[in-house]
Amino acid sequence: LPVTVFPNQEEASIAVANRIAALIKNKQEKGESAVLGLATGATPVKVYDELIRLHKEEGLSFKNVITFNLDEYYPMQPDAEQSYVYFMNRVLFNHVDIDRNNIHIPDGTLPEEQIHDYCLQYEKKISDLGGLDLQILGIGRTGHIGFNEPGSAPNSGTRLVTLDDLTRRDASRNFGGKENVPTKAITMGVGTIFKAREIILMAWNGTKAQIVKKAVEGAISAEVPATYLQLSDNVEFILDKDAASGLT
Ligand code: F6R
Repeated sequence: LPVTVFPNQEEASIAVANRIAALIKNKQEKGESAVLGLATGATPVKVYDELIRLHKEEGLSFKNVITFNLDEYYPMQPDAEQSYVYFMNRVLFNHVDIDRNNIHIPDGTLPEEQIHDYCLQYEKKISDLGGLDLQILGIGRTGHIGFNEPGSAPNSGTRLVTLDDLTRRDASRNFGGKENVPTKAITMGVGTIFKAREIILMAWNGTKAQIVKKAVEGAISAEVPATYLQLSDNVEFILDKDAASGLT
């Protein structure tokens, strides 16, 4: 599994942003769209900061960019401050020239009986566009990618899942207590992620060292869904030195 270690999160994030920018420009030159799989959470924020800077200061355009976010809490209203819709607007979309029609984030407002069909459509939209060119990922302390918690199957698709207790605890600060964190989420599956032509998993700081070690060096197992990434030829881990500190 290819692992690149940077001295710090800032340099690593700039490197990832530059790769995304190169992909966007390359597609632009060919008159094509760049189809990006995006993540929320703390991990990618500096990547988005740099993409915004490249847009504002260096003319990078997002007109040909189509995005699919990994996940959303369920239930969740898009205008709630804890929603991933609100988050993505705040950290990226409000600051670049992306066409709003090109943004896709799982809908946390649907009645439960409609979710199955909705998830199939989400997958179909991605494949109709030719698949994801690049998926960026963070990693949860449970070993989740997206919200594919322990027990997720390697061929899983977009679906409604139950969040792990540790994941809800880690989210509790944003919700003012774990009891306010939704128990469920809609997430792209491991199989959905695997179809991306390129996958970059990022992790920063010592709190991720243990799970990064398991993901990179541990036995492949449903107990740590990120270990499935060892089976992909298109994956790269980009770490700061603290997140990489447990690797042998
Ligand atoms: C977010 C997502 C999650 C996070 C993971 C790490 O869309 O799918 O897998 O990437 O929980 O979260 P942070 O970055 O906040 O440590």
